[in-house]
Amino acid sequence: MSVVEAFRQAYSAEPTTVWRAPGRVNLIGEHTDYNDGFVLPFAVPWGITAALSPRQDRTIRLLSLQSSGEPVVISDWDAAQGWTRYVVGVPAMLGERVQGADIAIDGDLPAGAGLSSSAALEVVVGSALNEVYGLGMTPMEIALLGQKAENDFVGMPCGIMDQAASALCEEGRALFLDCRSLGSRNIPLDLASHGLRILIIDTGVHHELADGQYAKRRADCESAAGRLGVDALRDVTDLAGALSVLQGDERKRVQHVVTENHRVEAVIGLLRAGAIAEIGALLNASHLSLRDQYEVSSPELDVAVEAALRGGARGARMTGGGFGGSAIALVAEERVPAVQEAVLAAYEERGWKEPRFLPATPAAGAHKI
Ligand code: GLA
Repeated sequence: MSVVEAFRQAYSAEPTTVWRAPGRVNLIGEHTDYNDGFVLPFAVPWGITAALSPRQDRTIRLLSLQSSGEPVVISDWDAAQGWTRYVVGVPAMLGERVQGADIAIDGDLPAGAGLSSSAALEVVVGSALNEVYGLGMTPMEIALLGQKAENDFVGMPCGIMDQAASALCEEGRALFLDCRSLGSRNIPLDLASHGLRILIIDTGVHHELADGQYAKRRADCESAAGRLGVDALRDVTDLAGALSVLQGDERKRVQHVVTENHRVEAVIGLLRAGAIAEIGALLNASHLSLRDQYEVSSPELDVAVEAALRGGARGARMTGGGFGGSAIALVAEERVPAVQEAVLAAYEERGWKEPRFLPATPAAGAHKI
């Protein structure tokens, strides 16, 4: 059943609007967003579709095609439970500018793959509310609204990358975003014309980011910035000097963030020069830095990356927040079967659940259907 049919059945009316917002993978620039740094994500072909009509009261009725049964009726927004908080958080952050809504939602993002289904949900709801309530928000303002809902209503202190990717990406392009100025550019990422693919390797292992590790990394970065007397780690220009006055976790986190920002800029340079295949080495360096300095990888991600490289990938790294989720591998088309076999064999050897492979082509950001 389509989301529009589900809406009609549940609410005996036509939806006022239908929007779709995608998930994302991050090509490079990990854990840099909340350090005012650079990121380079692109939208994936999977996402969330929402059919929505405004209401005259402050009730939200919410139906998901992925959970069976009747719509959930939420009149006390603060009391919303589980995944519905990502939806309700958006109008809650808009305060008196909106009333309630009837909503039906359908998603095809692989659950738990770390491809930002939460950001897609926030952005799709924000986009639809923006239209039906005539709020006049730009895509970046919708992304910021989604981030605020996640920070202040859900309680996950994420940066802006995922929501910005979902709201602003364009088909065939990656989004180069400066997370301080919020200036962005859509950079062509024409993999096919270079005979390349980006393979998503979904480890099937999901560790909740909200469990404190993410917030701990963020706190390490903020305390290191304070010690160094800068507003954010983005501002560290003398890495050697910074490392000489830091110790322990703070030292490692700074090493990662500063070098990761340089890697994003280097990747941009290579993409501009049309040398996509050459970014592999930078993806590999990013993974090692996330594993050893930022300490957010997991055995499943490390094994996926190592096996993909053994199988002939040009580069590979974990993508997203870490602690599970997905890795990406940059692979020449003809090497895709060998890379998949190498990863499957490595997982089988360890008795781990089979990982899933998804080909990632850069897709469009949020749009009305
Ligand atoms: C999660 C967060 C993002 C970003 C990444 C790490 O996906 O939601 O804001 O910090 O982790 O790069």
